[in-house]
Amino acid sequence: MTAIVPPTVDVHLSGSDLRAAMERDVRRGLGQDPKSLPPVYFYDDRGSRLFDEITRLDEYYPTRMERSILDAHAGDMAQQSKADTLVELGAGTCEKSRTLLDAMTDAGLLERFVPLDVSETTLWSAATALARDYPGLAVNAVVGDFHLHLDALPAGGRRLIAFLGGTVGNLDQGERRRFFGALSATMGPEDRLLIGTDLVKDEARLVAAYDDAGGVTAEFNRNVLHVLNRELGADFAPDRFEHVARWNEDARRMEMWLRADSEQRVRISDLDLEVGYSRGEEMLTEISTKFTTAGLECELDGHGFDVETMWKSDGNEFALTLARPHFR
Ligand code: SAH
Ligand code: TRP
Repeated sequence: MTAIVPPTVDVHLSGSDLRAAMERDVRRGLGQDPKSLPPVYFYDDRGSRLFDEITRLDEYYPTRMERSILDAHAGDMAQQSKADTLVELGAGTCEKSRTLLDAMTDAGLLERFVPLDVSETTLWSAATALARDYPGLAVNAVVGDFHLHLDALPAGGRRLIAFLGGTVGNLDQGERRRFFGALSATMGPEDRLLIGTDLVKDEARLVAAYDDAGGVTAEFNRNVLHVLNRELGADFAPDRFEHVARWNEDARRMEMWLRADSEQRVRISDLDLEVGYSRGEEMLTEISTKFTTAGLECELDGHGFDVETMWKSDGNEFALTLARPHFR
């Protein structure tokens, strides 16, 4: 019998940091034309639950596709990386992590799991369940922002750093450049990156994945307005904003917008700010970039990584790529 090791949770985002960042981001985003909001604010407790529901929708293929690749190849990933530590960025409920943890256990190497996420509640419950289900595993969770806190990830051991769910596609080009730069700077020569990316495909399939018939994605999109109402004393009427999911062919990305159904004024009392929306005005809330395999290889190479292996799902819908930092 191996003893259960209680999980640790290292908090790098205090309530006051979050609050200051939110005030700054919202002021900046709503001052732009078109208006925009950063996606990180979707994921309060309700948002995390709604996202979890999205991953189970018929229309939302990315989760199923990525899981099918993990089911088929996690063993190869464990063996090729020879990692003893799994780090996961934007880990959420850590459901997919289990497949990797099992494969690393089978390879006889697993020692530590380090999930990082902004959502503290989700991380706590996932960390507790994992520590219970994997006796002997050290679970060292980090509450943090992957734009800011990559240097807070514990070093040591041979790390496999997973970034799943196509979340890297939610970063724009400049954010990706900064992200990959910061990440490679924290990686040793033996560490590996495992990155999940959604691939360019038929427009109708893409749009359906981000605008499901049951309206769960629409509710998820509008959730950011509920968050601003609660956190900043705003008076958005969420049901007066329509969910819009659109394929942007030039930028090769899905875009999520909220469209005002009529002219309206919104007051954000904690910012002492009043914002006007014209009828039909759209506010950008999320991008989800889709890649080609050649484009991804080129981008990784340009940002300091060599591709070791790329696995694709049936029908080439989704890719998982194992990469190593360029030799320095
Ligand atoms: N990896 C899971 C969850 C993907 S959803 C999967 O593949 O299904 C994106 C996750 O990233 C959410 O759990 C969200 O809370 C987290 N997240 C979003 N922005 C983040 C940021 N800036 N820093 C850290 N985590 C973030
Ligand atoms: N990483 C997910 C993706 O790009 C996030 C996501 C899924 C999302 N559905 C969404 C974000 C709807 C905003 C709105 O697929």
